[in-house]
Amino acid sequence: MAAKATHLLSSYSPTLPKTFENPLNQNSFSKIQTLSLKTTQKWSLSLTVRAILSQNTSFPHCFTKSSDGYLYCEGLKVQEVMDSVEKRPFYLYSKPQITRNFEAYNQALDGLSSIIGYAIKANNNSKILEYLRQLGCGAVLVSGNELRLALHAEFDPTKCIFNGNGKLLKELVLAAEAGVFVNVDSEFDLENIVAAARIAGKKVNVLLRINPDVDPQVHPYVATGNKNSKFGIRNEKLQWFLDSVKAHPNELKLVGAHCHLGSTITKVDIFRDAAVLMVNYIDEIRAQGFEVDYLNIGGGLGIDYYHTGAILPTPRDLIDTVRELVLSRNLKLIIEPGRSLIANTCCLVSRVTGVKTNGTKNFVVIDGSMAELIRPSLYGAYQHIELVSPAPPDAETSTFDVVGPVCESADFLGKDRVLPTPAKGAGLVVHDAGAYCMSMASTYNLRMRPPEYWVEQDGSVTKIRRGETLEDHMQFFEGL
Ligand code: LLP
Repeated sequence: MAAKATHLLSSYSPTLPKTFENPLNQNSFSKIQTLSLKTTQKWSLSLTVRAILSQNTSFPHCFTKSSDGYLYCEGLKVQEVMDSVEKRPFYLYSKPQITRNFEAYNQALDGLSSIIGYAIKANNNSKILEYLRQLGCGAVLVSGNELRLALHAEFDPTKCIFNGNGKLLKELVLAAEAGVFVNVDSEFDLENIVAAARIAGKKVNVLLRINPDVDPQVHPYVATGNKNSKFGIRNEKLQWFLDSVKAHPNELKLVGAHCHLGSTITKVDIFRDAAVLMVNYIDEIRAQGFEVDYLNIGGGLGIDYYHTGAILPTPRDLIDTVRELVLSRNLKLIIEPGRSLIANTCCLVSRVTGVKTNGTKNFVVIDGSMAELIRPSLYGAYQHIELVSPAPPDAETSTFDVVGPVCESADFLGKDRVLPTPAKGAGLVVHDAGAYCMSMASTYNLRMRPPEYWVEQDGSVTKIRRGETLEDHMQFFEGL
């Protein structure tokens, strides 16, 4: 059990904003009454936060810049959390936002038989996994270790799906023993699954991962459903796979078909186009006598990284676009969301080390870096950046690159960001850092991976992962 970081609250004398304004959803969360806090006690804070939450059931973003110029996470000043923790940078999550994101899928799936398979690769924090499992999620796995972690977090194996184009025999044996669904990705993968079933002495429930050749219109690094992708099988080969499954009745049971088009998709028509192709394949597969029940349409729904208030498709839009197709074939629907469940629940909180100018460029240098959050460097991804407290009134607004201390010019968190010139020590957040940030963090430059905290429903802050230390690193060499 993680110790509650109640110390975080001990130095509080919090004042809540007069109103919270959420530019993304003015209707449902435009004005929340002032709830002043008279004491520094956790109890008062809990009551306040609960009152705020209960008035706003559809609050779409847990991090809100209020009219007092401070950034809040579920009613807590991020500045005060930052001042209380022992180490920066750190990841700060909202647990209530995880619940809301899950509920958005859960409610959208009402009336369908379904599995929400959370893609563990997006964020593998064990506390988050346990919480998503408690809410009702299954898990989508891409390695033997993710499978082990999912079993450790007590996910129901019959709600887990093992994906991947290079699954190893020993990983497949584990999957067969655990009784999770396995996606068949290639001819050699099918051979290995058969071998694993024999070793485990268990029949494996398999889905065929079909590559439908639908362009997801995303960055090439996160597109997977095009015909030249390394993932899945092409439809020309479908018959070979069906014959091979038939030839192994003791090892394989074909239960469905899977596709995953890519990630950061912002048009639900793309999912519909793929689902139309997929149900046609399922018709073809059923016509050959297979009793397949599952259509797995993968993950990939995008989020509003730009914070412009753009209307992006919701989980309901996604499900509604395939609902009739799924019902028309009496199928069970599997979805595999990662980003859309967890990305917007979290910020990377850093402190400004200093500001400098070289040539025509202004830089804000922070204590966070590409080691903790690599998406901007790796994909040129945009993640919204803002200061956590109001800048001094005389601060000049300029255009900055926000960079870290890592010895690489690729070490940037944001380029050309218009910000008030921050003071040394000011807090700065990189938003939407819950997915593919900590899980892709490294210890490059011997920067140790940061701690993680979440804000609970009652307004308390809990450490959900400790920060790594140099001693952790040195242990790898002990006894060699
Ligand atoms: N299912 C499969 C088979 C996948 O390959 C993925 C992600 C997902 C589900 C979850 O997709 P999501 O709902 O999270 O978009 N590192 C990149 C993202 C790589 C995604 C890989 N596959 C990034 O930082 O954007």
